[in-house]
Amino acid sequence: MQGLNPIEPHIQKPTDCIAYLALRFPATYAQIASALLQISERVPEWRPQSVLELGCGPGTGILAAKSVWPGLASATGLDQEQLFLSLAEEILYGSQMALDATWVKSTVLKWVQSEEKTTYDLIIVGNVLNELPQEERDILIQKISSRSGGIVVFIEPGTNVGNTLIAEVAGMVSGVQHLIAPYIDNTLVENGDFWIHFSQRFQRPEFQRRIRQAMRESPLMASDWEDAKYCYVAWGNVPGQKTIWGQCVGHVEKQKGFLTIPVLTKEGVIHPRVLKRNKADYNYAKNIRWGELLESPITTS
Ligand SMILES: C[S@@+](CC[C@H](N)C(=O)[O-])C[C@H]1O[C@@H](n2cnc3c(N)ncnc32)[C@H](O)[C@@H]1O
Repeated sequence: MQGLNPIEPHIQKPTDCIAYLALRFPATYAQIASALLQISERVPEWRPQSVLELGCGPGTGILAAKSVWPGLASATGLDQEQLFLSLAEEILYGSQMALDATWVKSTVLKWVQSEEKTTYDLIIVGNVLNELPQEERDILIQKISSRSGGIVVFIEPGTNVGNTLIAEVAGMVSGVQHLIAPYIDNTLVENGDFWIHFSQRFQRPEFQRRIRQAMRESPLMASDWEDAKYCYVAWGNVPGQKTIWGQCVGHVEKQKGFLTIPVLTKEGVIHPRVLKRNKADYNYAKNIRWGELLESPITTS
């Protein structure tokens, strides 16, 4: 975790932006779209009209949000890098998505400390926290909800650092804001030794696969699929939240004669065991997907 000292920006020159587009963008699009889909499952009737992405880079979260909620009418992307904003504008234009977009060159800190009162239905902060010093993170997390008219979501890579950052955000907002996802019934669960994170498989187009290959030491061609791991937390005041018992937070593990499933419940992460001899329960449980919402408890006897 970084302290108060300014963090060296990851993006320092134009080629860094292009490299980000070529390499990271498909993965961050996959993780953000996947997190937003999970949120849409939790609040199936919610239809946001406006989205703001802080630290938008090439507009990743905005594009993902429009694919999950096609009714989105307006988008604001904020970033401190003009080249990223220009790329975001060009990509959105090329996508032909019907979205009234505004691009703002600013720092996150300036935005959150401004007198501006506009609120947004959906605010996305994707893969940015790890670039902010602790002091800025704290200010952002404390103030961001006042600019939300719906849901705020923070997403980070599913790494040790990403998990620690998201756990920190969840800890700061819990008790003050209503947690929507991935937690159950607004109940914060400590990460402990178990990282609550998710995985989204995605496929790169051929030219990106070749770029990735060029960075590998192995002469064997890189696979055309990858898994983007991520963790996230979303909160807000949106009616119609789906009632569920738990969410699968990892792969089903098959053992001799039984399987176990890691499930996030409001009591914590549990690992119910389903015996193979209970055929119907076993057949149901073995097909549970990582990330799947579980409406009722898994039968274990
Ligand atoms: C890793 S990229 C993430 C881009 C996009 N959200 C995504 O997930 O693909 C981080 C972005 O945050 C921007 N950024 C970093 N620190 C910032 C700050 N203090 N204010 C505004 N933007 C910032 C960077 O310029 C960069 O575009």
